[in-house]
Amino acid sequence: MDFGGKESVFICDVDDIEKVYKMEETNPYRTPLAIVKTYCERRGEPKGLGVVNGNEWGELRRPAQYNMLRPLTVQRYFPLMSEVSEDFIKVLSAKSAIPDIRKELTKFAVENTAYLSFSRRIGCLESDDNEFLDNFSAFFEELMKSFFDPPFYKIMKTKQYRRFEEAADYMYGYVNKEVKRAHEELLKAQESGTFDPDSDPHLLHQLLSDKRITSPEKAKAIIIDLFNAGGETTASTVSFLLHHLASNKEAQEKLYQEICRELPPDGALNEASLKRMSYAKACLKESFRCVFPIPLGSERRLEEDIVLKDYLIPKATSLSLCLNTNLTKDPNIFPDPDLYIPDRWMRGSQQKVKNSFAMLPFGFGARSCLGQRFAEQEMHILMIKIIQHFMVSLPDPGKQYEIIWKPFPDTTEPISLKLTPRR
Ligand code: HEM
Repeated sequence: MDFGGKESVFICDVDDIEKVYKMEETNPYRTPLAIVKTYCERRGEPKGLGVVNGNEWGELRRPAQYNMLRPLTVQRYFPLMSEVSEDFIKVLSAKSAIPDIRKELTKFAVENTAYLSFSRRIGCLESDDNEFLDNFSAFFEELMKSFFDPPFYKIMKTKQYRRFEEAADYMYGYVNKEVKRAHEELLKAQESGTFDPDSDPHLLHQLLSDKRITSPEKAKAIIIDLFNAGGETTASTVSFLLHHLASNKEAQEKLYQEICRELPPDGALNEASLKRMSYAKACLKESFRCVFPIPLGSERRLEEDIVLKDYLIPKATSLSLCLNTNLTKDPNIFPDPDLYIPDRWMRGSQQKVKNSFAMLPFGFGARSCLGQRFAEQEMHILMIKIIQHFMVSLPDPGKQYEIIWKPFPDTTEPISLKLTPRR
């Protein structure tokens, strides 16, 4: 397909997608987020992972990955994530009906990311009126619109661009202050010998103390990425997950039974019990399959030519890897694709998945999602705590929600849920 001089080849066959991913390169190329790139260049702000490629990307990604993708590092954040989830449960408990669950979940996701990044709560959960949240929402909304609109902002500051810029100025300014604060704290702790890198659950301290992060500006770029990439993806995913559990009472009951069986007598979730909860993990996976979170799939440009289905595709061509519901709802890959069946992901299931490359919600390889372990831990904790406390149902069980792609999945009307306390 030719988009005004920029050719892109859409790869829809799962075996071909696997071939492209397996041509793993040291620094896999993905087209930069153009509006963010323009902003960073105009304002002299540091460019993050969503914008850079090549060695520049590798230099940022390696330390970020070391501090975010190792199971041990992510476990460090378990208590913080649990605290935010507990507070979120309190907010939900005060309301019997939730008219727009996604809106609530965006607050949760932003609060969570801020707490992990800054080791400080920013107060999104309690109020609809939060400056950080408002700016995050405007920033993200304009970023998403920029995927569909012609990039006139590159030649002049359009109305859309000015709204983006205003929100971005706030976000970069806020993160800048937090980086400065964390840097000063870290230097003091290092001088007094009280900094313990193995137990400090403060991502900014971890990043700033990593010798590969050669300037605080780099840490700032990484933190901004976490908000860009982690906020709406998480909110969207959990809103569909809760909708699936509300519409599938048997699955919800089976999950509740697993929670009752695996949680310790005090009912507090810990890492060991979460590890054992395979049905909970299957519920999330199946929800990903039913409503795939990244409908535009992924993109790569290879350093070498590749032959797919006897076609020679020259190196550097944009390859759009169509990981989406065309694959996850293909009956040849997933039997009974329209049914929500978490059991298909359980060990020993008869419903064998034919090619695991058909279901890669976090991408694959060196450039896959940096926040995968964070996101999974955060969503598992939240789902378990919600189902532990409430029976989740639909106020209007017959209602069908139409899904739209903006480009992340959303519904034409907000998803409304009824939460009935279990005791
Ligand atoms: C449901 C939740 C999420 C989904 C489905 C998701 C999915 C993805 C996907 C598909 C990619 C592109 C991978 C590729 O090109 O192969 C990506 C990139 C990324 N994600 Fe996530 N993500 C989620 C949550 C998060 C969270 C919570 C964070 C941060 C805390 C995060 C941070 C990032 C970053 C920084 C990148 C860019 C990585 C790079 O270019 O090196 N994501 N994500």
